[in-house]
Amino acid sequence: MSDESTAVLRARGLFAGYRKIPCVRDVSLDVRPGEIVVVLGPNGAGKTTTLLTLAGALPGLGGEVQWRGNPTKASLHRRVRDGLGVIPEERSVISRLTVHDNLRIGQGPVEQALDLFPELRPLLRRRAGLLSGGEQRMLLTARALAAQPTVLLADELSLGLAPKIVTRLMQALRGAADRGAGVLLVEQHARQALAVADRAYILQRGSVVWSGSADEARQNLRRVERAYLGQDVGV
Ligand SMILES: Nc1ncnc2c1ncn2[C@@H]1O[C@H](COP(=O)(O)OP(=O)(O)OP(=O)(O)O)[C@@H](O)[C@H]1O
Ligand SMILES: [Mg+2]
Repeated sequence: MSDESTAVLRARGLFAGYRKIPCVRDVSLDVRPGEIVVVLGPNGAGKTTTLLTLAGALPGLGGEVQWRGNPTKASLHRRVRDGLGVIPEERSVISRLTVHDNLRIGQGPVEQALDLFPELRPLLRRRAGLLSGGEQRMLLTARALAAQPTVLLADELSLGLAPKIVTRLMQALRGAADRGAGVLLVEQHARQALAVADRAYILQRGSVVWSGSADEARQNLRRVERAYLGQDVGV
């Protein structure tokens, strides 16, 4: 498990933040092919900031991001071309375009997206802005997975969704990981995310305060959830 050479995306002593002020400090984590890594932590812990810096959407302020073993400062655009998939925190469908057109602007074939989420087929001609929150998240997940990313970063995929849809999305991510993708998931639903994850990190106030296997985290779920609510832990 600790074979460093297998990580496809890695943060090493990463500092990240806004206007040169770090709110993420000295974070090290890695994502290997075929695994789901979940990053948990309270509001404001720095989860989105970490994800955006791993994606190249925010410049790092110290330390480094490595892509396939090499330090990178490439832009988001470039990383996406090299096999990174990103599902950001905010809704990122194009509201005035149809579901079909939203799928077409992805990096992968529309048919592949529809095979992953057949629920989208009857909605193809509908404007994406008229979809429910769950349907929009399915659209974004289908589009991202159809591109067969080497690594997928997903921020709060399940926020505000019914448990059944969350399970559906988590299973889709598990399928992608089983086909070889590395998945890094920032989540509010610790329980549902840990059910499909292989490893977990807990961030508090910009630092990793715990990391371990998802099995360990599941066995200590109450402590994990306390950390998640922002209370100090020694999980
Ligand atoms: N665009 C921004 N400019 C300045 N500060 C920001 C910006 N975005 C986030 N922050 C600050 O950075 C810190 C980390 O925020 P971040 O969004 O990474 O947290 P998070 O763990 O994703 O929280 P949440 O669970 O609420 O999404 C917070 O103190 C936040 O206020
Ligand atoms: Mg966030």
